[in-house]
Amino acid sequence: MSKSSNITWHEAAITKEDRHRHNGHGSCVLWFTGLSGSGKSTIANAFSSHLFQEGISEYVLDGDNIRHGLNKDLGFSDEDRSENIRRIGEVAKLFVDSGAIVTTAFISPFRSDRQLVRDLFAEGEFIEVYVHCPIEECERRDPKQLYAKARRGEIKDFTGIDSPYEEPLAPEITIRSDLASVEEAVNIIKQYLIEKKVI
Ligand code: PPS
Repeated sequence: MSKSSNITWHEAAITKEDRHRHNGHGSCVLWFTGLSGSGKSTIANAFSSHLFQEGISEYVLDGDNIRHGLNKDLGFSDEDRSENIRRIGEVAKLFVDSGAIVTTAFISPFRSDRQLVRDLFAEGEFIEVYVHCPIEECERRDPKQLYAKARRGEIKDFTGIDSPYEEPLAPEITIRSDLASVEEAVNIIKQYLIEKKVI
């Protein structure tokens, strides 16, 4: 619920469509979702770097980084995760409005939260990318040793251990990150954006 009143929406002088014409490409959010250690950040960063090299306006919003600043007041309870995703959704919308192709790398474990973000965007602007990796493989990789800590009870509410992950039911793109290389993943996403005439 909004706490503000007496506020007026100002129409911007430059629109998103102006920026698309200027940039020579469209804008959208590639909303990566998946377990910790599934490869969201790695693939998101590799894809964004690829866009950058092609002269395309891009930006990555990453879970660990955003939690150092904008969302440093939030933890990992269900409520805090929902608020985390809500804020990121709003930030992503600003980036899309700025004409960028924004990739977000958050676990975003709850379907209802991802749906609320999807609803912020126009048709085709929100592209859900499910980075699908079996938890056994994520736990084997365990790059930050967080699964090990969660198993020892040193971290509570860890996704996939004692906090749920709700798989996407109809994601636009699914990457089997236990089977595909990062390069293959980048190509899958690129082909999707070409097909949809975003780039
Ligand atoms: S969420 O669920 O979308 O709000 O989470 P997110 O903002 O993506 O943050 C996930 C990263 O935080 C670290 N971390 C945890 N993850 C899951 N559960 C618990 N309890 C937890 N505590 C810390 C972890 O490094 C996650 O990063 P990734 O890149 O996903 O491994």
